[in-house]
Amino acid sequence: MMSEVAVDRSGPELRFENERLDGVAALVTGAAQGIGAATAHALAERGAVVYPTDIDEELGRTTAARIGAGDRFMRLDVRSERGWDEVTERMAADGNRMGVLVNSAGAAMKATLQETSLADFQRMLDLNLVGTFLGVRAAGRHMVDGGAVVNIASLRGMLATDGLGAYGASKSGVRALTKVAAIELAARRIRVNAVCPGSIMTGITDGQGFSNDDYDAYVRSIPLQRRAAPDEVADIIAFLVSDRSGYVTGIDMLVDGGTAAGVTTPKKTN
Ligand SMILES: NC(=O)c1ccc[n+]([C@@H]2O[C@H](COP(=O)([O-])OP(=O)(O)OC[C@H]3O[C@@H](n4cnc5c(N)ncnc54)[C@H](O)[C@@H]3O)[C@@H](O)[C@H]2O)c1
Repeated sequence: MMSEVAVDRSGPELRFENERLDGVAALVTGAAQGIGAATAHALAERGAVVYPTDIDEELGRTTAARIGAGDRFMRLDVRSERGWDEVTERMAADGNRMGVLVNSAGAAMKATLQETSLADFQRMLDLNLVGTFLGVRAAGRHMVDGGAVVNIASLRGMLATDGLGAYGASKSGVRALTKVAAIELAARRIRVNAVCPGSIMTGITDGQGFSNDDYDAYVRSIPLQRRAAPDEVADIIAFLVSDRSGYVTGIDMLVDGGTAAGVTTPKKTN
């Protein structure tokens, strides 16, 4: 008969209670708007002590005030090593250790590989991949045992998409980084997961230059026939950092309305 293995489900200093995050210090990057802002809000609603960060200070402070975290907003450029030191020092000065980290800062760029300059390619990697690496490394250094990290990768890091080569490569890298971090931090019961959103209605997808017809065709190509609101990703992230998902680590979870499930064929009109 197999012997029972004792199950230790939380770190000594951290207590999640189902989806509640009361008193858990949660750092969110890219929190001024979009998915990061919705996530900061979702975590605050669940009781977390949220530290919203962004390079956009004005919008960041407005968003932080809206979710009751106004005095905890910090400017953080995720590409800056020093910046990561400063935010973790500030949390420590407040008597808080990071229990949750959500790496949402990012940007997209639409260009074929032939049109992409070396500088632009490196800019994508720096922001989306190196920024996430620095965050994951900071979590390894400062996070409470039993904590949780969620990185935002993308459907485009799974499904090759023309015109999104640099972006897709950076997000593929985020998926790989997530899995390595999950394995390396498992001994401390720190879980590291990624979400891979499809098409979410945020500033990042504005101005993609679609004609109305192309836009409609694009939306029809999504099995659920719609784009998503940022809070639909935020709710998944809140689940992934809660103890409801305590046995889940190293995944890259699609939130894409079924886009990657397969292909859609033209419908009969008759
Ligand atoms: N919206 C989508 O359809 C979609 C799909 C897949 C993945 N994503 C990913 O979700 C994440 C959030 O994107 P979003 O849609 O909310 O976009 P968004 O443009 O609404 O928000 C991105 C935020 O990141 C901030 N930011 C940019 N550079 C930064 C830097 N160097 N340091 C710190 N903050 C910085 C911006 O100021 C902004 O507030 C990104 O990583 C994006 O790639 C979005």
